[in-house]
Amino acid sequence: MKILMVGTGYVGLVTAACLSEMGHHVLSLDIDAQKIANLKSGILPIYEPGLKELVERNVEAGRLSFTTDYSEGVRHSSVCFIAVPTPSSQDGSCDLSYVLSAASEIARHMDDHKIIVNKSTVPVGTAHRVQEQIASVLRERGSAIEFDVVSNPEFLKEGCAINDCMKPDRIILGVDRAEAAKTMRELYSAFMINHDRIFVMDTVSAEMTKYAANAMLALRISFMNELAHLCEKTGANIKQVRIGIGSDQRIGYQFLYAGAGYGGSCFPKDIRALSSIAKDHDVEMSILDSVEEVNQRQKKFLSSKILSYFSPQGGVKGKTIAVWGLAFKPDTDDIREAPSLELIRDLLEHGAIIRAYDPVAMPNTRKIFGDAILFCKDEYDAALNSDAIALVTEWKQFRFADFHKIIPHLRQKVLFDGRNQYQLLEMQTLGMEYFGIGVPSSRSDLGAIAASLQKKTPAPREISKVT
Ligand SMILES: NC(=O)c1ccc[n+]([C@@H]2O[C@H](COP(=O)([O-])OP(=O)(O)OC[C@H]3O[C@@H](n4cnc5c(N)ncnc54)[C@H](O)[C@@H]3O)[C@@H](O)[C@H]2O)c1
Repeated sequence: MKILMVGTGYVGLVTAACLSEMGHHVLSLDIDAQKIANLKSGILPIYEPGLKELVERNVEAGRLSFTTDYSEGVRHSSVCFIAVPTPSSQDGSCDLSYVLSAASEIARHMDDHKIIVNKSTVPVGTAHRVQEQIASVLRERGSAIEFDVVSNPEFLKEGCAINDCMKPDRIILGVDRAEAAKTMRELYSAFMINHDRIFVMDTVSAEMTKYAANAMLALRISFMNELAHLCEKTGANIKQVRIGIGSDQRIGYQFLYAGAGYGGSCFPKDIRALSSIAKDHDVEMSILDSVEEVNQRQKKFLSSKILSYFSPQGGVKGKTIAVWGLAFKPDTDDIREAPSLELIRDLLEHGAIIRAYDPVAMPNTRKIFGDAILFCKDEYDAALNSDAIALVTEWKQFRFADFHKIIPHLRQKVLFDGRNQYQLLEMQTLGMEYFGIGVPSSRSDLGAIAASLQKKTPAPREISKVT
């Protein structure tokens, strides 16, 4: 099938590459001319394991190409996907301007029937708004071309996006016309060889499904993070509690990790958007506001612990903190709303010196902090002469760091483990002080002191525009 993919970001580029791998002819379009020029010369705008090889193979095979030209893109295709940003507006609602602008551009260049498929995460009712937008542009053009709008939310996870895309748990199709569903089934048929995982529903339910899934996952994380605070107070171990409750099949083990809070381009903005939709419809969903509030606090928990720890030493001013991990999760260079940013900002504000390392997210982080922090060549270099190490992203290599190599170069032997990758006992054996989240730590009172510090300075509501 001939496909247009509007947007060459984490969703657009991965989906375009996977669709072309399955034999479709995909033209990938972006308004960012630099991105397209780079893609044409083999430079990818994002890091995603396996993506470079996949893109190269399909470009070479002539199934995947790139353009900035909507006229060429729309002419090329019978199905036009939209995978553009849907960031938070200042009031927390979803900013649909990118989606509506892409829809208008498609409408301006349509000269026969098209299926317009929305892959961006959007509020309920957006398919109908896109429908109206396209109809209005066509009316202006004096055109009566028929078209379908399909809602096809994306569920891939950065870091394993290709596997998620090639072997999806489910494909949700929100459609208003059976004919469009038939074409979409055909488009995805190569992904369904093992067994059918396509669920066809109305567009509103499809749009709601995406928000509901993200809200449920974020809820689990915030629940575990709150429980972790109680574990610290009571002496329980959140890692053991996770195993205990996860073994219940109704609960399962996934997404029950306490840590430094969730980030990324999806959960924070999607929770805010769903909450905003609820308010618009006069529906009380206080649980969503709590999920967000707990997360905002949690993103400050690690820095509060570090500040509390160094308080008897006169604070962190002039102290060197090694930050291991900047991306919001491992295997991605995405730092949008990453807990590392909050931590670094807090520590810089209090005069700390930051030595940071991340395998792939340093270029993006440099765009935010410039020379205000030191970017190091690896985790060992970051730890050099540091007064504390803060592990923020659970990259595998941080899990197996050689502390025998690190310890001789530390000024103070203390690890703040924002992802519970290590254990108190093993760190004690090495002569290190250890502070995790909701797990036995060198001092059981630090969490409580940090929490009371947080209460005095409530977390600001961070809203970052997608760049
Ligand atoms: N990143 C994820 O893990 C993920 C997962 C599921 C769903 N989503 C959703 O998918 C959507 C896209 O997210 P993303 O992370 O891929 O975004 P992104 O910021 O990585 O990429 C979006 C791309 O769209 C381009 N763009 C913006 N406006 C455009 C326009 N009018 N025409 C052409 N190109 C345009 C941008 O230049 C950018 O390259 C969002 O709604 C997001 O919530 C993201």
